[in-house]
Amino acid sequence: MLRFADKVVLVTGAAAGIGEATARRFADEGASVVLADWSLDKAQVVASELHSGKALAVHVDVSILKSVQQMIDATLQRFGRLDVLVNNAGVHIPGTVLDATEADWRKISSVNIDGVIFCSKLALPYLVESKGCIVNTASVSGLGGDWGGAFYCASKGAVVNFTRALALDHGAQGVRVNSVCPGLTRTAMTWDWDQSVRDKFYERIPLQREALPSEVAAVIAFLASADASFINGVNLPVDGGQTA
Ligand code: NAI
Repeated sequence: MLRFADKVVLVTGAAAGIGEATARRFADEGASVVLADWSLDKAQVVASELHSGKALAVHVDVSILKSVQQMIDATLQRFGRLDVLVNNAGVHIPGTVLDATEADWRKISSVNIDGVIFCSKLALPYLVESKGCIVNTASVSGLGGDWGGAFYCASKGAVVNFTRALALDHGAQGVRVNSVCPGLTRTAMTWDWDQSVRDKFYERIPLQREALPSEVAAVIAFLASADASFINGVNLPVDGGQTA
């Protein structure tokens, strides 16, 4: 069954990792997909491979409002509507609050917080029109503390609570807002970590492995689908039981 046959889905950070898997998943389910990423070259390669053949790659820096506006304009120009926004672009810079620098915080907060806020703000009028939805990629690091990434945890905590606030404000307009909160996931973001760090994570995950990007993408697609029509304001762990 093609759950998104007549839908237009915009995925940020779609050139790699969870965002790429998400774009592929929506395309497999029939959606027209906008793959927005800093890395236009990589996004274009993924777009050219999508099964639906209805894909557009767009350059965006989600931390810059003007760039986000251009991304929304390009989406509307090509497809005329927007049904699903997946706020997925994010960065991780390891370090405790003592190690990390002001520049690290500016980077993390501008992409992970400003980016989610800017994209949501500019997409919402079109989502109200389509009775659409937003799915944010938050993190288990936004649900509880985590070692060696205090700035990242702070940024994802903001995404978790922004998700709740948006759900309250815009539910009456027919827009649902939820997030996925992945645990350790096998992407470039985490793949160069030392095995010792990875082992420390595995000890906390009952399923004793990291998620595949496709496993997170499947939950994002579920939350965006009619199957989740009464789910709103939820931050759903996809973490192998880590937060159980
Ligand atoms: P990734 O590094 O594989 O992919 C991130 C993508 O976002 C890249 O294509 C990158 O070019 C793009 N991007 C970065 N900054 C951008 C900007 N300013 N504007 C537009 N695009 C930008 O990372 P991954 O792992 O796929 O992460 C996706 C999301 O999942 C992030 O929000 C991350 O925080 C979150 N997450 C990842 C986990 C993991 O273990 N990999 C765990 C929990 C959450």
